[in-house]
Formats: sequence, C-alpha cells, structure tokens
Amino acid sequence: MNDAPPWWRDAVVYQVYLRSFADSDGDGTGDLRGVLEHLDHLVELGVEALWLNPFYVSGEADAGYDVVNHRAVDPVMGTLGDIDELLEQAHARGLRVVGDVVANHTSTHHPWFEEARRGGPGHPARARYHVAPGRGDGPPSDWQSLFGGPAWEPFGDCEWYLHLFDVEQPDLNWEHPDVTADVERTVRFWLDRGFDGLRFDAAGALAKAPGYPPVPAGERHPGDDHPYSDRPEVHRVHRRFAQVLAERPYRFGVAEIWGPPWVGEPYTRPDELQQAFAMDLVFTPLDAGALGTVVRGYLDAAARQGRRPAWPHGNHDVTRAATRWGPEGAPAVLLVLLALPGATYLYAGDELGLPEVELADDDLRDPTWWRSRGTERGRDGARVPLPWTRAEDGHHGFSPQGPGVRTWLPQPPGWGDRSVQDQRVEPWSPLRVVRAALPVRNSALRDAPWPTWLPAPDGVLAFRRGGTTCVLNTGAEPLPLDAWGSELLANSRPLDEHGRLPSPGTAWLR
Ligand code: GLC
Repeated sequence: MNDAPPWWRDAVVYQVYLRSFADSDGDGTGDLRGVLEHLDHLVELGVEALWLNPFYVSGEADAGYDVVNHRAVDPVMGTLGDIDELLEQAHARGLRVVGDVVANHTSTHHPWFEEARRGGPGHPARARYHVAPGRGDGPPSDWQSLFGGPAWEPFGDCEWYLHLFDVEQPDLNWEHPDVTADVERTVRFWLDRGFDGLRFDAAGALAKAPGYPPVPAGERHPGDDHPYSDRPEVHRVHRRFAQVLAERPYRFGVAEIWGPPWVGEPYTRPDELQQAFAMDLVFTPLDAGALGTVVRGYLDAAARQGRRPAWPHGNHDVTRAATRWGPEGAPAVLLVLLALPGATYLYAGDELGLPEVELADDDLRDPTWWRSRGTERGRDGARVPLPWTRAEDGHHGFSPQGPGVRTWLPQPPGWGDRSVQDQRVEPWSPLRVVRAALPVRNSALRDAPWPTWLPAPDGVLAFRRGGTTCVLNTGAEPLPLDAWGSELLANSRPLDEHGRLPSPGTAWLR
C-alpha cells in the first residue's frame, strides 16, 4: 500500500497561457511547439506541473474557450502530434500536465450548433442547447451575459438561445444525454493521451433552473437558489467527472469556481473533484488581516472535505498580480501561498512580475470590450505575450523570427527590461525570487504539518508549519525578524540594513 499524498495535493502548477507564452512559427501567437521549446524554463523555475489553456479547434471568439471540436487541436496551436510530444517531453522532465475542459458551452461553429440553427424551431438538435421561445418580441428571460449585454440571442425565428458568455458561446443543456456522453468522451480522450489532471471550466454554471427565473439582486448567501450558479444539480455532473477521472490512477480535477469558501466546498466532496480554486484570494487587498481571514476560510472548508485548497495567485481572467498587489506585494503573497497546505497556481508571466498592460482600444480582443459597449476593457491587459530576451526584434524573443512579427497583443515599451534573459542575472528579480523559493518550499514546507497561527502585531500574518515559520509584513514599519526564527530560508525582497523585513514582504525562517 502506497500512502504517500497524491502528487497534485500540494503541487505548484504553472499556468501556460498558450497564445502568449511562446511562438514557434512566427505568426505572433503562442503555440504548443513554443511550449516544447521553453520547457526548460519551467524546469529551471522548479514547478511540478503545467496547465494548458484550451488548444482545441476554436472559433476564436473567446481566446480558445469557444470550442468547435473538443478532441482536435487548432492548427494555430499545433497538432495532436505536438500534444503527444509535449506530454512525453514534459513527463520525461518530471513535469505533469493539466488540461482544460470546456463543458458549459460550445462555439456557434460547432457542428451541433450549426445543426440546431439550420433545424428551425422545435428541431431535436436544439434540445442540446438552452433554447426557448421569446416572450413577446423580447428574450425568454432577463438574464445578462457575464461579458455584458443580454444572455439570449434570437435564432431569427421564434426561438432564442442562451449564452452566459459571448454570443458565439451557446450554453449546452446538461439534461441532454448526448451532452453528458460527449463530454465524458472528451475527458477520457485527453486522459488516455496522458494528461495528469483536468481543469473544469465554468464548473458552477452547468445547471440552469427550469424556466430561467430572474437572477436575485445583491450578494449571495449559503442556501440561496441561484438560477444558473452553483445549483445542486451541478454536482451530479461533477460526481460523474470524478468517476471518469478515477478510472485511471493519479489523475485529478480542479473546478473553476468563483466565490467565497462555502461556494467551492461542495465541489470537493469526497466523491467530487479534488480541488476548487480559492478565487476570492485574488480580490483580497494586500493586508495581513484580510489575507489571513480569506486563507483560513478556504483551508477550513477544504479540510472539512478532507481536501486542500487550490490557491490562484493570478490567472488569465483577472488583473495581473503585480498591478493588483503591487510589484513588491505580488511576490510577498506568492510566498504566503507557497507556504500553505494546498496547490499553488502561478500564472505565466507572474514569475517575471509583469504588470497589467494598458492596451489601446484598437488592440483589444476580449469580447467583454464590445459586449459591454466599451465600458469594460476586459482581460487582455493580463494576456500580453511574454518577453524572453532583451532583443529589439519587435517581440523580445517571443517568436523565433526577427522584426516583422506582430504579436497578437502588442508588447508595451520597455518589456525587454522584464525579460527572462535579464531577470536570470538581475539579483532580486521576480524570477530569481521564485526560483530561490521553490526548492526551499519543496524541502521545508511541501509535506509539513497543518499551520499553527502565531500571534502577531497589526499588519503581520505569521504561521508555523513544523520547523518553518512564514511571516508576511504589510504593516507601516519594517519588521525585525529575530523573534520569528534564527535562519532565513527565503524572502520575497531584500532585508533592510538593520536586517528587518520591509513592507510588503514575506520571509520564511527556521
Ligand atoms: C472561464 C475561462 C474564461 C472564459 C470563460 C468562458 O471563466 O477562464 O477565460 O472566458 O470561462 O469559457
């Protein structure tokens, strides 16, 4: 009997945002071979796994999340052969690979939806989606798209289809047996190719209340009945995903859930998925008290289910960590997450401390921008292609080719100063901080006991796990460290001339 904890429980997972990670063919968009060529960056960083955002054939309305064929690779991203090679090369380097399953919707270019559109009112193909007759001249209900504007689009006959996201992302009807069977096939397909885990996109949205009743105004509370978020019926689907995952050893699933701990907790019940993202974390201000409260809430919820949290430091949907928490705050929070029980998800480019980029209106690609009629700029500012070198080639080594390559989102001036090449040699660069911290984490913290919270002055969060203490200082003054340990193991920024930890900053001590 092997009772070592499963690999994913406390893994550090690097989120490869494919189109912005590295381009191998000079079209300005990142791709699978770009990842293959830069796998050593991940090895050098010391992460244990990578999560790949969708690379499936897509209508490109929502950066790959509008899927036309869930079991085929988009030519822009590469080929199925590239996936196989990537899995093989990653595994050979001891890296696990996590995929992304988009189960809530397809693209409007998906054959099912094309059949539904052609079929006309009442056609059986429409039953695979949420389709309803309008009320008078208007939509079936007042639901709004999460990207802005109404969530219903007319077919041009008497029926409308639901799209919680973009108009090109029609929501699938999870009461239809074809939907269940097809997504299960997709899950098995990628697991059989060698994926070690899967993220379930929009996991809380898969069930909709019959009749599409109004969405209640105001904040949500435990026990509330929301017409499309986190409904009880959705757990039947996740129990099924869990069974399919369990057909193969050492595989896991992580639910993309937004909300406080009580929202995600049921998704991690013993017969459901292994992880749910602790998403409120990314909206928590850089304040020791606030962070402590949020972190303890997610830890307690996960522990009640015998699980550990999945800590997102950032992702492709939220403002860059270095802008949200500031350039010194982002690594400070990262060191706190790395010191806690659970898996940490590090978003590509956050190891370089990349800030949110202010893009010109004409450069924006996120459907949120036009759906909100220009009131929400959307998520592109966190998706700008990574700078690999300081070369003035127009893309800082993002592409193998020289000037003339236009990256899918433009890099801002000065991006080369933040390049991997520069940060490898610059003391205390974000890259060097992460690279120094990960091996320490793996030896001193990864399998350490549950945290003991230590009494700390205002603005300081401190906890001990086994022999290692983690202190976060967000207070007004630099923090003397002698009281917390005698040996400094890692820190998010240099100490001051008196050996104190500046604010914001985090240190691990023994
Ligand atoms: C998830 C993805 C996001 C996408 C949405 C619709 O929230 O992370 O990028 O737009 O689902 O698929």
